[in-house]
Amino acid sequence: MFFKALRKKGILGMNRRVGDYILTHNERKKYQLVDNKITTYELCKKHNVSQPDHYFHVTNIGQIKKIKKDLIQLKSFCIKPARGAMGNGILVVNEVLGTEEEPEFDTSKGLMNIKKLSHFISDILSGLYSLSGHPDQVIIQEKIILHPVFDNYVYKGIPDIRFIVYKGYPVMAMLRCPTKKSQGRANLHQGAVGCGINIATGHITNCIYLNNSINTHPDTGKELKDLAIPYWEELLVQASKCYEMTQMGYIGVDMVLDKNKGPQLLEINARPGLSIQLANSTGLIPRLELINQQKSNADLKSIIAFCQSHFNA
Ligand SMILES: Nc1ncnc2c1ncn2[C@@H]1O[C@H](COP(=O)(O)OP(=O)(O)O)[C@@H](O)[C@H]1O
Ligand SMILES: [Mg+2]
Repeated sequence: MFFKALRKKGILGMNRRVGDYILTHNERKKYQLVDNKITTYELCKKHNVSQPDHYFHVTNIGQIKKIKKDLIQLKSFCIKPARGAMGNGILVVNEVLGTEEEPEFDTSKGLMNIKKLSHFISDILSGLYSLSGHPDQVIIQEKIILHPVFDNYVYKGIPDIRFIVYKGYPVMAMLRCPTKKSQGRANLHQGAVGCGINIATGHITNCIYLNNSINTHPDTGKELKDLAIPYWEELLVQASKCYEMTQMGYIGVDMVLDKNKGPQLLEINARPGLSIQLANSTGLIPRLELINQQKSNADLKSIIAFCQSHFNA
């Protein structure tokens, strides 16, 4: 039912059209810029796009023995694979407890001692969570602090905001809220809530959970449409800048809001999924075609103004 109605609205499907946009606008050799989160981080620094800091990287097994003293100095952090995807291999450390000799880590997967934590890091290095299965590198990243505007809109974890950015135009956006089912992760197929967003204002328009339309967060009961995302224009600007930064014409840009640092880029995806259309209950095609009719040299300010006036849903 849902899908039939969407086809009428110009939904971009898993067919030739995906090839049209992804293959035509994303050069193969550019993929490595976004498929490796360390490369993306370095690129962001050059282009003044804000990201959670990387404290350090672990690149070989030998290094693991020596990282205890570095880790215990950090109050909190997040461990993730450089080439991971879909929320796999991500461990959030909320607090370091215990003693210097025998530290304990309060993590998103329960309490861990240094041996267990080292094991987790070595699994990432071996490629257990990497896209390709090849050996990987480990990022020790600043922990994102939930912005209070999202209180009761998430069950643990951090919500993220996915933008589809076409030739620099943020054409569609959705907020992904972690649930009990998604185990605190913001990935839809793991059971996060997907909320469509009005590009003009940052207000939530329409929400889905496990492919069904909903109005309230399944765990907290909070009314989802009451939410308006703060820093909305800044989020649009940062998302748009990812085009200039990657020179990839069709990307999924994932942003988060940190309590202290505001909008931060989490990652860029060169093959963004299509469920953003379900969350917004509208198709991408009319929006993409409208962008095709625009001049290609518009400045950032007019790009944002254009999207806000035309995608005011
Ligand atoms: N630094 C962090 N602090 C807290 N939570 C994080 C952090 N990085 C990622 N997460 C959580 O993990 C999810 C997936 O992270 P992401 O970097 O997008 O990896 P993936 O490529 O696996 O999707 C995020 O949506 C967020 O909920
Ligand atoms: Mg992600």
